[in-house]
Amino acid sequence: MQNRRATAIGSANIALIKYWGNRDPVLRLPSNSSLSMNLAALTTTTTVEFRADLAEDVVKIDDAEARGSAHDRVVAHLDRVRALSNINTKASVLSHNNFPAGTGLASSASAFAALTVAACVAAGLRLATDELSRLARHGSGSACRSVPGGFVLWDACDKDACSFGRTMAPADHWDLRDVVAIIESAHKATGSTEGHALADTSPFQATRVATTPARLERCKDALLSRDFPALADVIEKDALMMHAVMMTSTPSLLYWRPATLAMVQAVRAWRKDGLPVAFTIDAGPNVHCICPAGAAPEVESLIRSFPGVERVLTSGVGDPTTTLLDSPRI
Ligand code: DP6
Repeated sequence: MQNRRATAIGSANIALIKYWGNRDPVLRLPSNSSLSMNLAALTTTTTVEFRADLAEDVVKIDDAEARGSAHDRVVAHLDRVRALSNINTKASVLSHNNFPAGTGLASSASAFAALTVAACVAAGLRLATDELSRLARHGSGSACRSVPGGFVLWDACDKDACSFGRTMAPADHWDLRDVVAIIESAHKATGSTEGHALADTSPFQATRVATTPARLERCKDALLSRDFPALADVIEKDALMMHAVMMTSTPSLLYWRPATLAMVQAVRAWRKDGLPVAFTIDAGPNVHCICPAGAAPEVESLIRSFPGVERVLTSGVGDPTTTLLDSPRI
């Protein structure tokens, strides 16, 4: 096989209805459906080149050679692409995040979305978006939501074939912003993969899973009708349900810092005063402040001067993962 090379750019996503826990951890079939918006400003750009001269896969992330589980996870994903395309050439993978990894900003979502698309194109596979999303899911669950664009629904289903992300509304449906308050940029102690495995140890997980469909419907309705108060109510509730499960798992996962709680309370006070803003929090201490674009400058300035905030990142709604340069658009 000749050397084959492709580059893809994928955006991170923020879940408005969270994925937490797997009914099948090997296939990454989630315990519940989830819904997210892609984040245009938070991207991973990945180049994959299958090279006949390589004896092993070489993986570089943000200019450093990946080792240990990060390396093994990428190799396992390349193996999935090799199995599909019937090739056994090793690959070089060069990946660059434009945002700090390990901050609860879901670098695995953009990373596995970009890796999936770049590796498939480099391997000569021409897969439809649903198939790419399904494949990305095997690398990281939330990555399946970063393959298609805009507001993306990942339907829980108990089979590999039907578990993938689908665009519910395109990026231009509603000009929302995610103003992220970075409270800590160090690597998190317990990653999502380990956390998912603990979800069922919480007595609250069964209730969270059973009540997710109702929240999902409310969230879909709020998004489709651009009803911000309804959206704010349901996304905050859903994030708190997930953190209640995390906190009550064995061992307990407590991602919050004092500044996290202070900001949660501040966001509610700002909203009460008429500013349309709502919080959501992933597996980390940072607070994602979701608001309509018009409110973003005020939200940013409030957060910038907030005690305990290291930095602020703002993103609009992102497009699908796409190939770059000479590669065809997916
Ligand atoms: C809290 O997709 O990072 O961000 O499938 O093990 O890679 P793996 O987990 P991951 O989990 C994301 C968890 C979350 C919520 C969400 O994005 O829905």
